[in-house]
Amino acid sequence: MSTGDHDRETRRDADGTFGEYGGQYVPEALMPALQELEDAYERYVLENEDGFMDEFRERMRDFGGRPTPLQRADRLSERYDREIYLKREDLVHGGAHKLNNALGQVLLAKYMGKERVIAETGAGQHGTATAMAAAHLDVPCEIYMGRTDINRQRPNVYRMRMNGAEVNPVTAGSGTLKEAINETMRDWATTVERTHYVIGSVVGPHPFPKLVRDFQSVIGEEAREQIREKAGRLPDSVVACAGGGSNTMGAFHAFVPDENVDLYAVEAGGSSLEIDTDAGVAPNSATLSTGTDGVLHGAMTKLLQSDDGQIVESHSVSAGLDYAGVGPELSHLVETGRVTPVNVDDEAALDGFHRLSNLEGIIPALESSHALGYLEEQTDELGDLVIVNVSGRGDKDLETVLEETEKRDLEAAPDVEVFDGE
Ligand SMILES: Cc1ncc(COP(=O)(O)O)c(C=O)c1O
Repeated sequence: MSTGDHDRETRRDADGTFGEYGGQYVPEALMPALQELEDAYERYVLENEDGFMDEFRERMRDFGGRPTPLQRADRLSERYDREIYLKREDLVHGGAHKLNNALGQVLLAKYMGKERVIAETGAGQHGTATAMAAAHLDVPCEIYMGRTDINRQRPNVYRMRMNGAEVNPVTAGSGTLKEAINETMRDWATTVERTHYVIGSVVGPHPFPKLVRDFQSVIGEEAREQIREKAGRLPDSVVACAGGGSNTMGAFHAFVPDENVDLYAVEAGGSSLEIDTDAGVAPNSATLSTGTDGVLHGAMTKLLQSDDGQIVESHSVSAGLDYAGVGPELSHLVETGRVTPVNVDDEAALDGFHRLSNLEGIIPALESSHALGYLEEQTDELGDLVIVNVSGRGDKDLETVLEETEKRDLEAAPDVEVFDGE
């Protein structure tokens, strides 16, 4: 888990904005907590006070299973006639990149003397990672999760409970990630002195986007060294799916100064890119591709919103990408042209899921399947040497994939009569 020199420099961009994005749009009551967190971030993460980062790295190695491999995908390379490498974050303990950040923040909460951690979760992977880290570090833990997500990601709800976390269902709105974040912020505002809010992505008010990015940037730091070792040079492109954007920023951060490496953020195209602003619904979560500037969850960023500034309900077949906002640093990198936003619809993501499972023997998360889906659509522009970040494994998604596949089969053959045994 080395940190390159160029990396250290970009880590010291201490103010809370990325161009016009970021900032701290929060109630007064939260300002002291953000200031306290900013101080802790500078002392422990940036300065390694009391050996914080050494302990974090050691725990990520022994408990978390880092470093993860960068694996050449032989059959995908053959299919696309170029070198495809997979960064295997699905092999992190818990089955996703989420532990990189959750373990870092729960450890930070301990160093800050907090007695309790809370977190929101969408796909349940961040909640699971936080519950695991909290059990590992002996810190009481409560998770907020929307009703819709509880229903579609049940295995993760069981896993959180097994690890001793309390899971609080959130019934407001569409019962997905946005509402879960609102509820966690509400809890935090009233318990801030003894509680740390372990936010799950590079979103929220400063310093969260930088803090989460720094814990996740190990993905790209490792991949950068590994690809040089294996392929003898830097890649032509790095591809990662973007929900809030933490695996994207984690995979991209070390490559941002490498101008010849193209960075592709693959968003959820859902069933259509059109937004029905009257109904307040977007059948997608393609925030970077189609969103407009506004404030959500304490930061200025790109959002899915109506003309009068109401946040619309997003959609994706994958719970972890189903979010109307995105991290402010990603908005900035897209705005300045460094990151290219693209999107893949539900169907193409499901195809990506099946393809990696069939060809490589790896069942990816539905979130990661979007990045894999993009390979099929636009491989030429990606160049000859491509890294795809497999942000997580797909065990949690098997039920959804089976249901969606059945639905697709029925739609493809609607007139087929089902033999009922008579
Ligand atoms: C496996 C996996 N990948 C990606 C994401 C999307 O989050 P982010 O955009 O912060 O990486 C999630 C969210 O739960 C996830 O579980």
